[in-house]
Amino acid sequence: MDIFHHSRQLRKHVESIREAGSIIGFVPTMGALHEGHLSLVKTALKNTDHVVVSIFVNPTQFNSKKDLETYPRTLDADISLLKTIDSTNISVYAPSVKDIYGTTLKTESFDFGGLEDVMEGAYRKGHFDGVGTIVKHLFESIEPDKAFFGEKDYQQLLIIKHLVKHYKLGVEIIGCPIYREEDGLAMSSRNVRLSGQQRKAAPFIYATLKTAKHKFGTKSAKYVTEWVTNQFKKQEFLDLEYFLIADSETLKPVKRKSKNRSYRAFIAVYAGDVRLIDNIALN
Ligand code: PAJ
Repeated sequence: MDIFHHSRQLRKHVESIREAGSIIGFVPTMGALHEGHLSLVKTALKNTDHVVVSIFVNPTQFNSKKDLETYPRTLDADISLLKTIDSTNISVYAPSVKDIYGTTLKTESFDFGGLEDVMEGAYRKGHFDGVGTIVKHLFESIEPDKAFFGEKDYQQLLIIKHLVKHYKLGVEIIGCPIYREEDGLAMSSRNVRLSGQQRKAAPFIYATLKTAKHKFGTKSAKYVTEWVTNQFKKQEFLDLEYFLIADSETLKPVKRKSKNRSYRAFIAVYAGDVRLIDNIALN
């Protein structure tokens, strides 16, 4: 498996693979890889000839210094995991902050057409400018044919699609389903930071989303939102940050249901200082 720490070498490598007629796939990550990430890499390998996996904890998308400092960094384990899937058709790009940003952490400002106004964009100020900055940079540097993103970060997926269209970046964006633990908890690099009690409590998040989906069949968005809020009041180890039912395409909060629109429920929860997000398609 080829591992690159500098963009120039990576570009050269990707160019030679492309010249041989291969389709290049790309899976951007922040490392601390788990089965959710690996499911993206496996889908990428099925849909392209060679897959670049980037591993880079991007400082500009963190709005909390503590979250950035405590974010798990496990490069050697990540590489070993990737080798269990395929060691010839995957290349790893693990740059340093300096390789990406130089000496100053500059973030571009983006207009994502309002997709950034709710949820993660509203609760994590500047988050999507940081995501946009790094993903645009990586797309321009690697020039993949297809890039793979998880529905776990559904808002991010829509924002990246918007970015690609707006800047005509010429990469096809493919969304992949949320990969879960057996008890329903969405896999996340942050799950390793949960205490025993928090980990035991965390499957309640997806269980509540499933019941909310059921209720949304007959009840209004307002009713379901109040119901979810009340459920979390009874939880000792979980604090609800937001629950929102929104249009799956525009992310506009639902006021009145329409038969020909599709909706999704989104949730963010704190277990101590660990922030967990999840979402579910409602119809
Ligand atoms: P990270 O959180 O490492 O996630 C990398 C990719 O894996 C994202 O597309 C995310 O949606 C996907 N992913 C994470 N957990 C998943 C799960 N349980 N099931 C399916 N897919 C999952 O998202 C980022 O990094 C960063 O914002 C990044 C795009 C790399 C830019 O820095």
